[in-house]
Amino acid sequence: MLPENFIPVIKVFESVESTNDTLRQMSPPPEEGTVIVAREQTKGRGSRGRVWNSPKGGLYLSVFLKVQKRLTDLPLLAGVALAQTVQSVLSKAMIVSVKWPNDCMVNAKKVGGILCESCSTGCVVGIGLNVNLAAEHLALYQNEAFPATSIKILTEGETNIDDIQSVLLKKFFNLYRMYEQEGFSPIQYLWEKNCALIGKKIEFRDPNWATEGRPLTGTFLGIDETGALMIATGQGERRKFYSGEIVCYWP
Ligand code: BTN
Repeated sequence: MLPENFIPVIKVFESVESTNDTLRQMSPPPEEGTVIVAREQTKGRGSRGRVWNSPKGGLYLSVFLKVQKRLTDLPLLAGVALAQTVQSVLSKAMIVSVKWPNDCMVNAKKVGGILCESCSTGCVVGIGLNVNLAAEHLALYQNEAFPATSIKILTEGETNIDDIQSVLLKKFFNLYRMYEQEGFSPIQYLWEKNCALIGKKIEFRDPNWATEGRPLTGTFLGIDETGALMIATGQGERRKFYSGEIVCYWP
């Protein structure tokens, strides 16, 4: 268990390939709660084998945790911390939302994401946030289902990356301590509270073809007590998914 008022060891690098890899390759293994921050990544990785373009101006960090069970809880927990952090620097008129399982969206554009990976001694939670990135840095993602945006584009100004990092880590470790003490239930509640897609029509794709190779359209109901996504289909069926992604949603 992390102690109350836990203060993490934070190691800051100018440039690394991937903060997740730096943490996973540390020998001896890092202490619980160790954070690696990089000003840029040369081989930043996103989910599903995608590239996470990581030039200077973004926030790239990874946290080491000694958990080895229910690793699917962690991206949801980190997503709440990320969405709350992003909302804290934007006007209330901007709709910040988590998107299952590991994205942070603002007005239907992706501003940040989470990549959790296990290693022999625990789990690495990698978080990327487009802070001071200009449109040219995000061009790679403009044809994605959800184009990328940044805090700089949204606020038309620069935000101090160290400040946003402190807010994010404080929220993350507070949520993690609560998770250690009370389990997933408060995270499930907060995740749904920070999700603007509940009750909306979504299109969902499952990489394992559980949707018979076709995208499934239905109403997003939220997540269950294991973090699984729940959809009500037009046929009056309620279905649960443990992997896959929301590829489209309607306001
Ligand atoms: C996604 O939305 O696809 C997940 C993006 C995760 C990016 C972060 S940046 C810090 C950490 N290091 C990586 O190589 N990836 C994660």
